[in-house]
Amino acid sequence: EDRIKQGMPLNGKKVLVTAGPTYEAIDPVRFIGNHSSGKMGFALADEFANLGAEVTLIAGPTAQQSTNALKRVDVISAEDMLKACISAFADSDITVMCAAVADYRPKVVASQKIKKQADDLTLELEKTADILATLGKEKKSGQILVGFALETHDEENYAKGKLEKKNLDLVVLNSLNDKGAGFKSDTNKITIFNKALEKTVFEMKSKTEVAKDICTAILKMIK
Ligand code: CTP
Ligand code: CA
Repeated sequence: EDRIKQGMPLNGKKVLVTAGPTYEAIDPVRFIGNHSSGKMGFALADEFANLGAEVTLIAGPTAQQSTNALKRVDVISAEDMLKACISAFADSDITVMCAAVADYRPKVVASQKIKKQADDLTLELEKTADILATLGKEKKSGQILVGFALETHDEENYAKGKLEKKNLDLVVLNSLNDKGAGFKSDTNKITIFNKALEKTVFEMKSKTEVAKDICTAILKMIK
């Protein structure tokens, strides 16, 4: 297998990919989550492995299975994902943060099931750490860091803002205005911006094909 890998474009490279949602506990039986299926991140992890990379996949709760033999780390919450990412990042040549990380979590996690009582219930939430921005601060020269931007309006400006604020090399814009794009779908429509803010628009494709386009954009940067 090592001999087969030798001719591959990412042979010897370590790649970190995150995928899926995070779940933020409310009490022992409930959580705040989102509709991320994990499909895009798993497709990316598989494509990196096909290119010969040594892939670590940090996955939130998802039913996805990878087709390749990857190092998979399963996590639940944003805090778990942050810890797993920090420990894998220093060693990683290419990192793609595809996970739909919760922005807020309950400030207190009830240790027992919350019983129904009053007609209204207010949950107090606090911000989670921004994993991608944390990695962006730690990034050393030679490391490539790629983020996603999921937007419904003013998409290009927000995407470019994330590229700059989080110290990214590429940002992949996922507009929820495009039919067939997004969370549960098997297809996706993306636009990529690089550091020079050059824009590449892609057609609607299967997530496997989208993963290839993202990897191609990354390969261009390391040649
Ligand atoms: N991200 C992260 N940690 C968080 C939130 C987001 O690492 N706590 C990452 C996502 O994985 C994605 C990128 O940041 O690669 C952008 O996520 P997105 O939700 O589009 O943007 P936010 O910065 O969270 O801002 P907002 O949700 O307000 O648009
Ligand atoms: Ca967010």
